[in-house]
Amino acid sequence: MSPSIPSKPHQAAEVGRLVYLRYPHPRDREAFVEMRQKSKDHLQPWEPRPPKGFDAFGQDQFDFVYKSRSVPGQERLLIFAVADNALVGQASLGAITRGPLQSAYMGYWIGASHTGRGYMTEAVGLMLRHAFTTVRLHRVEVNIQPNNKPSLAVAKKSGFRLEGYSPRYLQIDGVWSDHERWAMTIEDWREFNAGRR
Ligand SMILES: CC(C)(COP(=O)(O)OP(=O)(O)OC[C@H]1O[C@@H](n2cnc3c(N)ncnc32)[C@H](O)[C@@H]1OP(=O)(O)O)[C@@H](O)C(=O)NCCC(=O)NCCS
Repeated sequence: MSPSIPSKPHQAAEVGRLVYLRYPHPRDREAFVEMRQKSKDHLQPWEPRPPKGFDAFGQDQFDFVYKSRSVPGQERLLIFAVADNALVGQASLGAITRGPLQSAYMGYWIGASHTGRGYMTEAVGLMLRHAFTTVRLHRVEVNIQPNNKPSLAVAKKSGFRLEGYSPRYLQIDGVWSDHERWAMTIEDWREFNAGRR
């Protein structure tokens, strides 16, 4: 088991006011698959189309998230509401690169029935804390399509800085799509949090 996974599988990795982050556990399978299925219309336009035969809205996706929850290069955490412990979404760090880069890409989604409550804004803040303290990264990047207004709002509110524009950057729902590149270094993160105290 990765040293970053708390010793008890049900322990939260990061806790906030509205949500907490916890590594997936086999017990989460049913709720996870149900939420992904119910949120298909909401999520599919914003996610990469998976290889043929892989069900991104079924059991395959839970298997993938569970197996890669904390392996070299990846961290995948589920997001739960503090109020009722309901699963509400997921946040991940991918392509974690060590050496002189110490960086990763962040990805996130919230179930269709849980949007617009500030959950992801808080979860991204918690994921950044995880990235800069537990995972000990120096830089986190998030790439967002220019028409994804809720995700852009989350990135801005979380203190990310717009670095540039990448044409046809990522395959989203089967199309090579332009993205804005937003990033944050640990120095930015410390400054952002100091300004909020
Ligand atoms: C993007 C996503 C994660 C946001 O999650 P969320 O929990 O609803 O986010 P929050 O409630 O914390 O914040 C959403 C913000 O977007 C704003 N917003 C929503 N729709 C908007 C729109 N059409 N135009 C401008 N801002 C908008 C909200 O007002 C809110 O900002 P505010 O708190 O300042 O008012 C969620 O919509 C989602 O899962 N989308 C599909 C997957 C996805 O896009 N993932 C990210 C890929 S980069």
